Amino acid sequence: MAFTFNFDIPLQTEETNDKENKDDNAKDVDLKCSDASATVPTKMKNAIEHEPLLDPLSHIENWVPETVTIGALPPLLCLNESVFEKTAPEREDSEEILAKTLNQKSDLITGVYEGGLKIWECTYDLLQYIDDEGETFTGKRVLDLGCGAGLLGILALKRGAIKVDFQDYNSTVIEQLTVPNVFLNCEDDDDDDETEEQNSSPPSKRKALNASQKLLDRCGFFSGDWNSFLTLVRNKTLSKYDIIFTSETIYNTDYYSSLHNVFCGLLAEDGIVYLATKSHYFGVGGGLHLFEKFVEENKVFQTKYLKDVEQGLKRHVVSLTFKK
Ligand SMILES: C[S@@+](CC[C@H](N)C(=O)[O-])C[C@H]1O[C@@H](n2cnc3c(N)ncnc32)[C@H](O)[C@@H]1O
Repeated sequence: MAFTFNFDIPLQTEETNDKENKDDNAKDVDLKCSDASATVPTKMKNAIEHEPLLDPLSHIENWVPETVTIGALPPLLCLNESVFEKTAPEREDSEEILAKTLNQKSDLITGVYEGGLKIWECTYDLLQYIDDEGETFTGKRVLDLGCGAGLLGILALKRGAIKVDFQDYNSTVIEQLTVPNVFLNCEDDDDDDETEEQNSSPPSKRKALNASQKLLDRCGFFSGDWNSFLTLVRNKTLSKYDIIFTSETIYNTDYYSSLHNVFCGLLAEDGIVYLATKSHYFGVGGGLHLFEKFVEENKVFQTKYLKDVEQGLKRHVVSLTFKK
């Protein structure tokens, strides 16, 4: 049985952090987009930061890598998604999203599972756009928002970004897919420097640990809903992102205000959001037209169409920058 493109909206969520969430969100009053008030379902998962193990791949059984090759981009490795369904029963999944998506044969269960276990096609459109433009990310701070497998952030890491944060709604996605993918791709992108503590290990192990630590210093991993993610990041640092990638994240109109608030609160003044999306998400209701309308009404960002894909259901790559 393969993962399907079904949507299941809405369902009860299992976490009840409403009060904490609301209190935290109330602190976010200095956003430029104050009228973008949150209308998200009340029972969303609170944001947390994940501290990955230095060798995450060694803790995941039965993983199978596959390679995504687009134009002249470096090949990007990722764990094959079909392995998740085959090995669902033996995987660590405190959120139980693997079982739930399998049982309900659904790619989206609002507030429970938001689709991060598979790579959605607009990610490939955005990778293609980056290849066409020859864009590199040297010295940039990047956020892969709603990252799923994390390929956009991984590309930025491989192309010189100084910092890449990965965010997905589900902790299972971050732990079982995003983090392993980052290590799978970037472990060897480093030199031989060693710390004293690691000098007692065998050289190959030492090199790997060293590379992992350096990689982790450049990455952050977060799960949870966008409202509490915004609060968490703003409490942690004043730095903002030069680039925010976000692919296939505007399918649910209830999330528009929290998504817009993340852009407002975390994008640097001269930064750019790259949004890759379908024109319309049938069965869910969201789409580019509605999101553009929301953005226009809030008068904070200007949008620009960068790429249109006309095959099948129309897809687009769009940028958002602050209005001058
Ligand atoms: C359809 S998936 C797309 C995954 C990936 N960007 C891709 O293109 O393959 C939507 C992503 O947005 C994130 N997301 C959606 N709604 C969210 C919300 N309200 N809060 C936090 N994350 C959310 C989910 O974690 C999920 O990974």
